[in-house]
Amino acid sequence: MLPQWVIEKKRDGGELDADEIGAFIKGYTVGDIPDYQMSALAMAIYFQGMSFDEVTTLTHAMLHSGDLVDTSSLTRPKADKHSTGGIGDKLSLLLAPLAACNGIDVPMISGRGLGITGGTLDKLESIPGYRCDLSEAEFLAVLHECGCSITGQTASLAPADKKLYALRDVTATVPSIPLIAASIMSKKLAEGTDVLVLDVKCGHGAFMKNLDDARELARTMVEIGHRMGKSMSALITDMNAPIGRTVGNALEIRETLAGLSGQGADDMMSLTYALTAEMMVLSDGKADPSEAKKRLVDDVTSGAALARFRQMVELHGGVSDIEAQLPVARIQTPVTASASGTVSAVDADKVGRAGIILGAGRTRVDDGVDHAVGIADLAAIGERCQAGDVLATIHANSKDACNEALQYVKDAYIISSKKIPPRPLIIETIKPGE
Ligand code: URA
Repeated sequence: MLPQWVIEKKRDGGELDADEIGAFIKGYTVGDIPDYQMSALAMAIYFQGMSFDEVTTLTHAMLHSGDLVDTSSLTRPKADKHSTGGIGDKLSLLLAPLAACNGIDVPMISGRGLGITGGTLDKLESIPGYRCDLSEAEFLAVLHECGCSITGQTASLAPADKKLYALRDVTATVPSIPLIAASIMSKKLAEGTDVLVLDVKCGHGAFMKNLDDARELARTMVEIGHRMGKSMSALITDMNAPIGRTVGNALEIRETLAGLSGQGADDMMSLTYALTAEMMVLSDGKADPSEAKKRLVDDVTSGAALARFRQMVELHGGVSDIEAQLPVARIQTPVTASASGTVSAVDADKVGRAGIILGAGRTRVDDGVDHAVGIADLAAIGERCQAGDVLATIHANSKDACNEALQYVKDAYIISSKKIPPRPLIIETIKPGE
């Protein structure tokens, strides 16, 4: 079957079979099918969607486009968490060392920023020397030594996703449930874990803007993983406001260090504890979630989690005096409140766009990022303020970008005269079969 016939079938709402999907992904991976035909198919999938069988087949085809990581030498339970992408989402950086402190190996293959969402690898690379390009042998060596390693996708791991992810970013085909599900699950299944907890973000700053779409994405991924023998669950979490107090790479590393030292923002820490506890419960069927959370708090209080994070950084080639060596932006400008009252909304989409304007994220997949810039000191929903109080601080390396970003952050804030009820951070938990 010619590639254009497969595109035509999907464009017209047909259901693709395993041969059609398999041949298309294989052809694209080896370069026989050009980017323009893959873009056309991605756009057809974006508009027509895919059945569960089609998404499962697409995931398999992408998973088997490369090698699987052989984690059989790791003797502890192997678990990972993956987020669908958020603003200020540095939870992986806190969670990986915490899970490692609790008898779990965390072989975490992460991505770079996509759209307005930040990427764990970009954050880690703001630490001078940190390598995100470990070979499989180096990745396993770090895991044997400290129980967690956060690295990038090698050329041989789900290469179809590596190519397609970059193509989707520049062809407006990112927010598609089947494409996101196959992209995430092909990488995560290649990692060789027993347990996978998904953090499906929902709201202004997420690819999934409403709960129905977030549920469908969560159910699709949980079911794909479950049918492949993995212990799965997904937490649907609120992404209307940024997580924690910072957005931007080095700023988020500073906030991670603060969080691991016991000075983390409440939303950031409670999401971290919930996701890590879920990994612990799925890894050890007998673990009790509230007991697990207590142990996590103890690991922060004792300094064990921070020490584990520093150990991972050093094993990846990063400097030991992280705080002293993180890059700092030349300009720091406050964003002030225009009225007195209570912060009732902080639009994560607008703050994410401010980050892109400053250069913290990329607009093209081969762009570099400015690790120093971003937004810090973000006042959270529910905080009281007086007119003129600082709501956030812009960290910039260009005056023009600073002014433009400042307006976005100012517009992100709504100050209300009413009392604001606390918002639930975890909206729903999805298990297999639900
Ligand atoms: N994260 C991924 O790995 N893939 C997507 O498509 C979106 C978020």
